[in-house]
Amino acid sequence: MHNSLLLFGATGDLAQRYLFPSLLHLLRDRLLPEDFRIVAIARSEHDDAAFQAWLRERLGDDYEAAALDELFRRTQYVPADLSDADAMAAALSRFADRPAVSYLSTPPNLFASACRGLEAAGLLAPPSRLVLEKPLGHDLASAQAIDATLKSTLDESQIFRIDHYLGKAPVQNLLALRLGNTLFEAVWERRWIESVDIIVAETAGVDGREGYYADYGALRDMVQNHMLQLLALIAMEPPAAMDTDSIRDEKRKVLRALRPMTPSAAAADSVRGRYRDGVVDGQAVKGFSHRDDVETFVGLRAWIDNWRWAGVPFRLVTGKRMPSRTSEVVVTFKPVTHWLFGPDERKRARANQLRVRLQPEETIELGLMGSLAASEWSANELQPMSLDLAMQPPKRRIAYERLMIDALKGDQTLFVRDDEVEAAWRWIDSVSAAWREAGTPVRDYPAGSWGPLEAQPFLPRTLTTHGGRK
Ligand code: BG6
Repeated sequence: MHNSLLLFGATGDLAQRYLFPSLLHLLRDRLLPEDFRIVAIARSEHDDAAFQAWLRERLGDDYEAAALDELFRRTQYVPADLSDADAMAAALSRFADRPAVSYLSTPPNLFASACRGLEAAGLLAPPSRLVLEKPLGHDLASAQAIDATLKSTLDESQIFRIDHYLGKAPVQNLLALRLGNTLFEAVWERRWIESVDIIVAETAGVDGREGYYADYGALRDMVQNHMLQLLALIAMEPPAAMDTDSIRDEKRKVLRALRPMTPSAAAADSVRGRYRDGVVDGQAVKGFSHRDDVETFVGLRAWIDNWRWAGVPFRLVTGKRMPSRTSEVVVTFKPVTHWLFGPDERKRARANQLRVRLQPEETIELGLMGSLAASEWSANELQPMSLDLAMQPPKRRIAYERLMIDALKGDQTLFVRDDEVEAAWRWIDSVSAAWREAGTPVRDYPAGSWGPLEAQPFLPRTLTTHGGRK
């Protein structure tokens, strides 16, 4: 396990919200090597004391002083300007004495000069590793340009592209559920599955990230990475082994089988929305008004053109300022082949449904039909019922904890490979080109609603019955 972490963007939002809290948890649980050290790097001309005071002010309410002291004992702050490769190399070469993981939690326009600086400082020589945060480009061409820069100094085996959804335990559980149970794997295909819904709804708005969002929108911010990774885990073929490349090979194949969106399909298979003033959790909130042609909500019907999924719609829905924070996957099965019960039962009949909620709670529900709830004399009075499992995870971890440990250990399984990123961008580019050519409008929705009216056909009924539709 590598024992040095160079954290670039150490005073940024991600670092204070997730990365330092993750490190505090890993230190608390003694999951890091005894001689583990952190080099916190950002542009501000802080010294150690000023950096510590800054971080203590942000995290002090949530952590005991002793935990922060332990973090600071291992942390050194170094000011460096990433856009100046020479100055950066001068500031950092003294850390090249042991193999390090450099973590770029910075905007992508700094990746190229940061790589040059790291290389000049001797910090990219194998077995050193580089962790990158999204966005990895704005479209396929810019993603390929970033990749070419990385590959001029690094081998793919040294590059760790973060998609923090892959570090979430309930996301990993999707694979375990699918591949560890005959019950599901046997029917995991077009003959038995009617549709798949993947929903990531947030109550949060764009707050504070208007500039970034105005350039990216929900399609690039959420679908290109998190939603397509969820889709890939659900739809991929079972890998021959649970090793890094077997899993990534299968994910890539599914992403490449996504049918490109065409301008003529855009009207039926997509909807875009932007939140306006409204009320979320009882609070009045302002609408997103930074740009008129950028979506904060997207609904897509994706088609996977392969043997297993031909004709099965995958509906992807994500939005900001929704009525509740809900991420879930809903697999709806086809009706039974032959109906033996009466016409009233047929009216009550519900398709079997597997509903896996990823957050905020971790629950698994299996919707079945049975007669237990009916009169004790009639086995024929079918009613919908549900097998419910509420998970009590032993310890709720921030997704980044798992990913940091894996990067330090050199395990790339939960990181995204170059060809997966490319395949995802290729499909996203088809969607944005289709929108452009078809002139797909961005429709308004009030904050606190489930998106524009036109989004109704994209929302599963479970969301409206259980998910707290307001
Ligand atoms: C990030 C997006 O990648 O994921 C944010 O940039 C989004 O816009 C966030 O809010 C959602 O992550 P989580 O873990 O809160 O569901």
